[in-house]
Amino acid sequence: MPGVFISGIGRRLGLHLAEQFLAQGRQVFGQYRRASEQTEALAKRGVRLYQCDFTDAGQLLALAERLTAELPSLDLLLHNASLFEGESEHATLNEHLALGQRAMALHFHAPQILSEALQPALRNARGQIIAITDIYAQLPRPDRRAYCASKAALSCLMQGYAAAWAPDIRVNCIAPGPLSFLPEHSEAQRAQVLASTPLGQEGGFEPVWQVVEMLLANDFITGETLKVDGGRSLSAW
Ligand SMILES: NC(=O)c1ccc[n+]([C@@H]2O[C@H](COP(=O)([O-])OP(=O)(O)OC[C@H]3O[C@@H](n4cnc5c(N)ncnc54)[C@H](OP(=O)(O)O)[C@@H]3O)[C@@H](O)[C@H]2O)c1
Repeated sequence: MPGVFISGIGRRLGLHLAEQFLAQGRQVFGQYRRASEQTEALAKRGVRLYQCDFTDAGQLLALAERLTAELPSLDLLLHNASLFEGESEHATLNEHLALGQRAMALHFHAPQILSEALQPALRNARGQIIAITDIYAQLPRPDRRAYCASKAALSCLMQGYAAAWAPDIRVNCIAPGPLSFLPEHSEAQRAQVLASTPLGQEGGFEPVWQVVEMLLANDFITGETLKVDGGRSLSAW
């Protein structure tokens, strides 16, 4: 039975999406980097898990080869793994280079190589790819320049696949705004984000699931990006 593959399945949005698919009785596959109670629980529920650090090109290529061999048919490839890393004012050039390489490894090379590896499986099931980008891909944050640029690269890559692999494979992006603050967000940052979000709250992960379900059901959308941001992209910094 075809299934869904989610990168970054072990926590937060990836975990929420996995839980929803499991509740529907779907076969779920996923990538994680760090083992946790959550990944153990997913494995016990029948999720086939693959460990991989995407910043290691050797690990990425090995994973891609395994997936090509082990998944003959796939309904959905969901690119979710991410690293929300910012520039330090005092970074050296070496540190800037490493930051850019990590951002591109997570948001460009991993989606590129996994999409290529799973293209035959997606074609077999007339499946789809959904990439989680960010409203910042089109509205670059001054303090997260490499992150934003790499998410923009992801968005452009997905449009390329949408054009290249139609009509067999549909490819879309979801661009979230403030879904759920990370522990490192300060109270002041949280207040500033909410003040500049017209709907005035964090969205949580459910609104993204609702868009995933819509994209799965609607067979006349490809190459599109849907914002799920409480209106945040309407406001300037
Ligand atoms: N949360 C928000 O408000 C928000 C806003 C805009 C966009 N987004 C986007 O929505 C998606 C989900 O957000 P989130 O907040 O749930 O993300 P998150 O908590 O930062 O989770 C990121 C996932 O990426 C994985 N990951 C990190 N470094 C990795 C590496 N080197 N190799 C492989 N995997 C790695 C993590 O795996 P491990 O846990 O195993 O390390 C984790 O499962 C992301 O694409 C993010 O950019 C989120």
